[in-house]
This record gives sequence, structure tokens and C-alpha cells, in this order.
Amino acid sequence: MAGGDTTRLEGIQACVFDAYGTLFNVATPVEKLAADIGEKASELGVLWRRKQLEYTWLRSLMGVHADFWHVTREALDYALKALAIEEAGLADELMTLYLKLEPFPDASEALAALRKKGRRTAILSNGSPSMLDSILRHAGLERSFDMVLSVEDVGIYKPSRRVYRLAMQKLGIQDAPSICFVSANTWDAQAAAHFGFQVVRVARIPTIDDGIPGKPARVVESLMELPELI
Ligand code: LAC
Repeated sequence: MAGGDTTRLEGIQACVFDAYGTLFNVATPVEKLAADIGEKASELGVLWRRKQLEYTWLRSLMGVHADFWHVTREALDYALKALAIEEAGLADELMTLYLKLEPFPDASEALAALRKKGRRTAILSNGSPSMLDSILRHAGLERSFDMVLSVEDVGIYKPSRRVYRLAMQKLGIQDAPSICFVSANTWDAQAAAHFGFQVVRVARIPTIDDGIPGKPARVVESLMELPELI
């Protein structure tokens, strides 16, 4: 536990996970092609992810939705251009690897432990259904969830309240605090907490909370701490 409260969360009916950055490592594609990319590899990884998220927020505010595959490619094209990386075919290769992201090492065991305890589990992600299907199959996690929910059902990205409400609707849960939402993305964790979920933030990168409303109920260092908490 990353310091702080270790007491159990009460009244949880389902455990809902963010996907990218929480269960799956978004650094995988750039890490795999780091030798081809060269010295700007880590800068590219960071800028790609930052722009990907920015574009989800911008499109949501603009009311111009495009799915996560499209947004991820636009962010990659921007990042490659901004860093003047011009390797032929690189963008296509990175996008293909985005469909085969590695799960974090604690994901599979934690999910198995939750399932063993009879917990309902779901994913609630910005990812399009086909992207989520692909990474889950590649990681052998396709049977670890009762439901895989995509923002494509509501046509707007996190942290819109419509996205968090989708989880309640699909799971048939009336009270927001009956959902334990798990995310390593600080802004997602905080927005979900502000919405009303009981949130566990995974401190994958030891970051402080963002300066926005909402506070996670618990902060853990590993998903392995989760089964004890709910
Ligand atoms: C997701 C983004 C936030 O999976 O990483 O929804």
C-alpha cells in the first residue's frame, strides 16, 4: 500500500478497471522498436500518450468524436512530426504493436484472485471494442471479465460523466459507490471518484493527484493489493 488507508471498501458489487496504463502498458510499442527509433524513443513514447489523451479531451469538448484507434494514430503522427522522426513504415508498425500491448505483471494474478472470490469484473475504457478485444486476446485475459465496456457506446471520452454512468447502466448497479473503479491514470481516478465510485488508484508511476476535484478512496502500489480491499 502506498501509505495511507488500508481498510476494506464496503458495499462493493463490481470491480471496474481502466485499461490503458492500468492493466496494459502503453509503453510497449515504443519499447519494442526503441532500437529503430533511436535516441528520441522515450520522448516519443511520452509525447504520443500525452497527445492521445489531449485529443480525446479536445474532441469531447469540440463534440467531434472519432474512435480511439483514429485518435491514437493522429497523436502518433503529431508526435513523430514534432520530433522529426521520419522512419518509413514506423507509424504503421507502432500502431500494430498497440494491438498487442503487454499487460502489467500484476494484472493476471489480481484478476484471477478477484474472480476466485466471486467478484464481478469489467473494463471501462476509451479503447474501441476491436482494440480492447485484441489486447485482451493477446494477453490471454479475454475470460477475466464479465463485461468489456467501451466509450464507443456513448460517443464521448472519459472523463465525461456519461462514460462512468455507462458502467452503472450496463452492470445494472443503481448506486455509484457500489462500484470499485480502478485506474492508474490520476485524472481518470479522480473524475471517477468525483462521479461517485469508490476508487482505487494504482500508483504505477508515483505521481501526485491532479489539481482537479475528486479523491481516490485508496492508493495501492500493485493490483495484487486489490483482492484484500474489496
Ligand atoms: C482508458 C484510458 C484512459 O483505457 O487509458 O480508458
